[in-house]
Parts: sequence; C-alpha cells; structure tokens
Amino acid sequence: MKIIGFVASPRREGNTAWLVNKILEGAKEQGAQTKSWYSSDLNIKPCQGCWSCKKGDRHCIINDDMQKIYKSLAQADALVLGSPIYMGQMSAQAKIFTDRLFAEFSPRFSPSFKGEDTTKKKLILLFDQGNPDPKLFRPYIDYTKRMFELLEFDVKNVPIITGMREKPACERSDLLPSMKKMGSSLILA
Ligand SMILES: Cc1cc2nc3c(=O)[nH]c(=O)nc-3n(C[C@H](O)[C@H](O)[C@H](O)COP(=O)(O)O)c2cc1C
Repeated sequence: MKIIGFVASPRREGNTAWLVNKILEGAKEQGAQTKSWYSSDLNIKPCQGCWSCKKGDRHCIINDDMQKIYKSLAQADALVLGSPIYMGQMSAQAKIFTDRLFAEFSPRFSPSFKGEDTTKKKLILLFDQGNPDPKLFRPYIDYTKRMFELLEFDVKNVPIITGMREKPACERSDLLPSMKKMGSSLILA
C-alpha cells in the first residue's frame, strides 16, 4: 500500500507536520510505503478556473509543483491531508491544494462520467487547532468532509487535534500512540 501525506502548513516542523508524519509512521510500521509533501517546499498556484481539465485529455494545464503531486497521488492508495485551522477554516495552502484536486478527482464534471468511482482513494483529513474545544469548528469540518466525499475520496477518519495553544503536538504523550494507531488502521480499513 502506498500512502502520501500533504502538510498544508507554512511551518515545516510545526504541529501539522508532526501529526501527519506520525500517522504515516504508523502505516509504515505495517508495511506501507509512505512519502510526505510539504506545501512550504512547493510552488502550487491557485486553480485558474479554465476548465481545461474537464475537456480533451482532462488534465490540469498549470505547470507547477502540483504536477508532481498528481503523479504521486495517482500511484497512491491513500492520502493523509493535514491542515491547521486558520480563522475557523482550513489554511490557504490547504484550500489551494483542494481546489487543484478538482482537476483529477471530480469525474462527475467530465463529459465521459459513467457513475460513481469504485476505486476511491482513502483519505484521512486531519485538522489541528489552538482552541481546546473540538466542537468549535465541527459544522465547517463536517461540511469539508462531505466535500471530499464528493471529490470521490473514501474518507476514513477526520481527526481534530485541539489545544495546540497549550502544548505543541510533539510534547503531548497522548498523541503519539493515537496517531500511529490511526496510520496502522488505514492499512486494515
Ligand atoms: C493565522 C492563524 C490563524 C489561526 N486561527 C485559529 C483559529 O481560528 N482557531 C484555533 O483554534 N486556532 C487557530 N490558530 C492556531 C493554529 O491552528 C494552531 O496553532 C496549529 O496547531 C498550527 O499548526 P502548525 O504548527 O502546523 O503551524 C491560528 C493560527 C494562525 C497562525
């Protein structure tokens, strides 16, 4: 099984990166091949709304680092997407990434769409936030989960990691086993 992580935080060694990487470590211990991508290392432009991806050969024509991610994702069985909560929503980096997924993961907008995709990729959609209340952004997070289901992902888990204001993720003893367990369960799910 191949699993890729996408860290949609400007902090390469911040909470989001730590959490995504611990999930991947858990999967790797069960035999998965894993790779992490960091938005801070990549030049990914926002979707230009040209609709080229839904015409002709149906691929995104923007020549930037997202092309590497499309290739990496095409070979992957699962994606772990991590975003910090910024102003009650996903980060701008996560939103740009998500919009760009539309090119490859929205078959229903293509003229040749024949029905629901049966080979969906698995997804763990992780959010981390400063505030300790996990219910605070729940409506937004539920809505976002639904949106990823419409993008034809098989959403396995939507962890909301709270309280990052108090202690960084790497210092929280409860998080290491729970993240690793989530990664290993991705192999079995
Ligand atoms: C610009 C900005 C906006 C934020 N907005 C929120 C917010 O609305 N609610 C919240 O609980 N935490 C908020 N936070 C805190 C981050 O979500 C939190 O510290 C997160 O763990 C940071 O992840 P990182 O270490 O990967 O950067 C915000 C942080 C920044 C920098």
